[in-house]
Amino acid sequence: MYNSKITGLGMYVPDNVVTNEDLSKIMDTSDEWITERTGVKERRHIKKGDGNSTVTMGVKAAKIAIERANIDKNDIDLILFATLSPDYYFPGSGVLVQEHLEIPTCPAMDIRNQCSGFIYAISTADQYIKTGMYKNILVIGSENHSGGLDFSTRGRGVTVIFGDGAGAAIISRNEDSSNGILSSHLHSEGKFAEELSLIGPSTNRWVPEIIEANDPNDISYYPYMNGQLVFKNAVVRFSEVIMEGLIHNKLKPSDINMLIPHQANLRISQFIQDEFGLSDDQVFNNIQKYGNTTAASIPIALTEAWENNKIKSGDIIVLAAFGSGFTWGSTIIRW
Ligand code: COA
Repeated sequence: MYNSKITGLGMYVPDNVVTNEDLSKIMDTSDEWITERTGVKERRHIKKGDGNSTVTMGVKAAKIAIERANIDKNDIDLILFATLSPDYYFPGSGVLVQEHLEIPTCPAMDIRNQCSGFIYAISTADQYIKTGMYKNILVIGSENHSGGLDFSTRGRGVTVIFGDGAGAAIISRNEDSSNGILSSHLHSEGKFAEELSLIGPSTNRWVPEIIEANDPNDISYYPYMNGQLVFKNAVVRFSEVIMEGLIHNKLKPSDINMLIPHQANLRISQFIQDEFGLSDDQVFNNIQKYGNTTAASIPIALTEAWENNKIKSGDIIVLAAFGSGFTWGSTIIRW
């Protein structure tokens, strides 16, 4: 059996910076409220006409990751694309990346696991490498949230948290067994599916039905979040799944060199940091600058941590996520 490692990382965020101050001009909110509850100071939003979409941002991040992995795009054996905000209802975004990158008939698959999407995608890539089926897999997490948020005061509880952006990683067969991806641990609990969801339009509630009803109170086409329930479950599940990964690899919390949590909310990250007794140097956060970018948040944070030399060879890196589904997971890496 082979093992796998991350050989290239890339990220892309739109140039357009939207501050808390900017949001407070269009809805009833404030920098104070947003900072205190979420830690977010600003986020990036696609501007209409700037050429960015979930797919094109993913392609930009992917090109950087491919170059850094020092491989030819034609060496990519599989594309895995994680998003909750695809360009099209169908087909998935992976095939559009394949077309943009002009990689002939390379297989492409979309992963629909929201905030845990990147962990699920890394885990999937790792299995294909382990069996020997593929050697190089492009994993992308990308989100265009701003295209689908409610920017009126009605949507403020959700809208202020989320931002746009993309991150990408090349996962490759590793010839050196002393490092690489050690394990991933995945979970879900569908009884909470509706607690963080966007349920319409869907095949249960198709667009003509929504238009015909013409109900101004119908907000089923905007994301819904039961914030307090999400918070309570997130802190428990994050802790459990990080511990599960550590125990599986006979590691202790003090062995963690860098924890890269999904950037859900700074308060959640701080809670986990305290729970595991980690110092500020052992946890990477950038939600202050980008908001919660869902499937893109871990690859963006991992890329920035790597670019800022916060990760070195031999380090134990822990990736962990929790989100809609509910789904959650962790990946333990020896860099
Ligand atoms: N600005 C100002 N006021 C706001 C607001 C905003 N952006 N959003 C909500 N409020 C108001 C509410 O209307 C409510 O007012 P009321 O008391 O007059 O009814 C008040 O603030 C408190 O709302 P509540 O929803 O109870 O706040 P909260 O303390 O639970 O904080 C979250 C809301 C979303 C920040 C918090 O629940 C949270 O962090 N949840 C986890 C979210 C998360 O991590 N999501 C990502 C998962 S991947």
